[in-house]
Amino acid sequence: MIALQQEALNSQPHSDPRWPPSVYYRFLAAIAGRLNAKVFVELGTCGGGASLTVASRNSGTKVVSIDLDKYPQVAGIEELCSNFFFYKGDSIAMAEKLGPDLALIDLLFVDTTHTYEQTMGEYKAWLPYMRKGGVICFDDLYRPGMNVVWDALPSPKTGIHDLKRMHVGGSPTDGGFGAVIV
Ligand SMILES: C[S@@+](CC[C@H](N)C(=O)[O-])C[C@H]1O[C@@H](n2cnc3c(N)ncnc32)[C@H](O)[C@@H]1O
Repeated sequence: MIALQQEALNSQPHSDPRWPPSVYYRFLAAIAGRLNAKVFVELGTCGGGASLTVASRNSGTKVVSIDLDKYPQVAGIEELCSNFFFYKGDSIAMAEKLGPDLALIDLLFVDTTHTYEQTMGEYKAWLPYMRKGGVICFDDLYRPGMNVVWDALPSPKTGIHDLKRMHVGGSPTDGGFGAVIV
């Protein structure tokens, strides 16, 4: 994970101004590359910068992204990346709708409300569809309650301190990034 963090920091962000150049997007893309990921699932698409970066840098990865709302930039990713698929719906409810028809998930990115209940619900709902040796990443670990989530997650895991450069926030309750190996 530390080597992949460095790879992300050394790589260039995408150049399209419709999406921010967040470094953790490149970190997710680097993990997908290292895993030779067939399936990446993102919970909480928003503008889709993470999905765009993973999909455009890993053409062999099926990128599935879920959100309650479809933001305007998402149509842009659908045009650019034929391996990107957006689904509108709740991140927990969609697990049993989509999970059985996907190949086992190599990389899952959990990035919705960052409450304890929702995040643990997402983790438990999607875990049965992960492949052994796959990776689950969590954003915004500095939000209230997310430290309890992080402590509850099983090892091996890397985060809080080791991956703090992946999401540097503007306040003490902003940012934080972690990765759990399944
Ligand atoms: C922090 S943003 C996601 C950012 C995005 N992953 C990125 O890296 O650019 C959180 C998103 O989660 C979505 N969201 C909130 N609750 C949700 C739920 N229950 N199911 C699906 N998406 C949800 C919001 O609509 C919002 O777009």
